[in-house]
This record gives sequence, C-alpha cells and structure tokens, in this order.
Amino acid sequence: MTEYNWNERYIVLPSKYGREIILYTNDLRISYGNKESIKGVSLEFEKNKITSLIGPSGSGKSTYLRALNRMNDNIALARVTGEIFYHGIDINVENMNVYAMRKHIGMVFQRPNPFSKSIRKNITFALERFGLKDKKILDEIVETSLKKAALWDQVKDELDKSALALSGGQQQRLCIARSIAMQPDILLLDEPASALDPISISVVEETLWDLKKDYTIIIVTHNMQQAARISDYTAFFYSGEVIEYDRTKRIFTRPKIQATEDYVSGHFG
Ligand SMILES: Nc1ncnc2c1ncn2[C@@H]1O[C@H](COP(=O)(O)OP(=O)(O)OP(=O)(O)O)[C@@H](O)[C@H]1O
Ligand SMILES: [Mg+2]
Repeated sequence: MTEYNWNERYIVLPSKYGREIILYTNDLRISYGNKESIKGVSLEFEKNKITSLIGPSGSGKSTYLRALNRMNDNIALARVTGEIFYHGIDINVENMNVYAMRKHIGMVFQRPNPFSKSIRKNITFALERFGLKDKKILDEIVETSLKKAALWDQVKDELDKSALALSGGQQQRLCIARSIAMQPDILLLDEPASALDPISISVVEETLWDLKKDYTIIIVTHNMQQAARISDYTAFFYSGEVIEYDRTKRIFTRPKIQATEDYVSGHFG
C-alpha cells in the first residue's frame, strides 16, 4: 500500500477560475451493476468555501458525495472510475489507504449516527485507535471540537452521559464534532439537517458557517433556502450529470439553464 506523507500535500492546484482548489474530480463515473448513476462529473471545490450539491431525488448527489471519501467502496455493486484529486493526490486509486485519507476528508450523514458510547468517547474513539493516548490532549480535543460544533456549553457537565440521550439536533452536532476532532481539511455532509427541527437546523447552519474558516465544506441539501443561505457555490445535479455549476448567487438569481431555474424556483417536472 502506498503511504503518503499527508503533511507535505499542500500543492496549490491550477484552476480555470484562478481559485485555490483543494479537491476536484475529473470525469468521475459511478455505476451500480450496469446502471451508470454518475456520468462523467468534473467539479472543483475551492478551499474554505461551502459548495452545495442540489438536484432532484435520484440525480446522484449522495453517490457523488460518497465517492469523495471512497464510501462507495463499501457497496459491492458500485464501480467508480475517473480521478479524484485531493491536494494533488489521486485518492481514487486501488492502493489508497482509505482510513488515512478519511482523516482528511470526513463525512457526516443524513441521520445522526453517534456511537452508543459516552459523548466524550464518541470524540476520542477514533483518535485513540490512531494511537493518541495522552489524556490531557484528548480532553483538549474533546473541548475544542465540541466548541466548534456549538455543543460544548450544553454538554460540558455531562460528557460521560450516553450520546444516545441527546436530542437529534445535538446528536448531529456531536457527529460534526466527531468529524472535526480528526482535524480534516474537508467535511462532506449529506443532508445533515433533514431530520432536524427548524431551530436545530439554524444552529447547524450557523455551525457550518463558522467552520468555513477552517474547513472546506461540501453539502448535499434538498432545502433551497438552505443552499442559498449557506453556500458560496452550487452544483445542480440532474440524472447523474452536473447540469450547471456557478456561484450560489448566480444559480439562484440568473441561472443559465432553464432546468436549473425550474428546479430552484420549485417548478420542476
Ligand atoms: N447502493 C445502491 N445500489 C444500487 N443503486 C443505487 C445505490 N445507491 C444509489 N443507487 C442509484 O443511483 C442513483 C442515484 O442515487 P443517489 O442516492 O445518489 O441519489 P440522490 O440524488 O442522493 O437522491 P436523494 O435526493 O433521494 O437522496 C439512483 O438511481 C439510485 O437508485
Ligand atoms: Mg441522497
């Protein structure tokens, strides 16, 4: 297995738009059996920006997002071809150490999925497995990750309580904290707010907005207001292709393609 020195990966990638690109895909194709669900998607993601992936159900948003940290590897049927460049490293190669890679590209799922362990352990579990034993450092990471995920004040006195006793919105923020604890560069979120009430949604959105300082965020959302509120760039997926990609403002005010306009204004189909 090729082991990369992940610390020496800061290569500024060239971009059509003159931006600093941290991740891009080139002609990415994903099929399940003989059905192609992503049909050659090339997209760039700018560092420290939020990109929304929008589009109708079944258009391939989750399939594409999962490919970005090789989660489709867990699906026997799935075949992924094309390039996924992260800081100049193609992570879509056979001998990639996906566990090391996922420390840099973390994922938060639609439904909060905390481990059935204490709040503290949810954060420290993976770090301990990667060999971090120092209690003081672990405590510090627990505190800073929970602070970044806007959960610290609510749980600081009950870190040993089961994570499953938290509300849905708190569990989702714990899952965000768990990802942050690994200090990734990139956070992938698949409809992270869809199972939450409006107040929790706005807290999660504020959390993401704050996280942008330190992370590059790619988020799948069905909520057009949410995409318009929080993202810098938006990609519109339709039937396995990206039909339009632009600055979010442009997508929501003056899209170039009729299908995009219909979708963002709710007149689709
Ligand atoms: N594990 C899987 N096995 C087989 N086919 C799949 C699998 N996951 C997704 N697909 C197919 O790939 C296509 C894209 O699905 P995907 O879940 O990526 O869409 P989506 O845009 O995320 O939809 P939604 O908005 O409903 O979540 C669909 O036709 C779906 O049936
Ligand atoms: Mg999906």
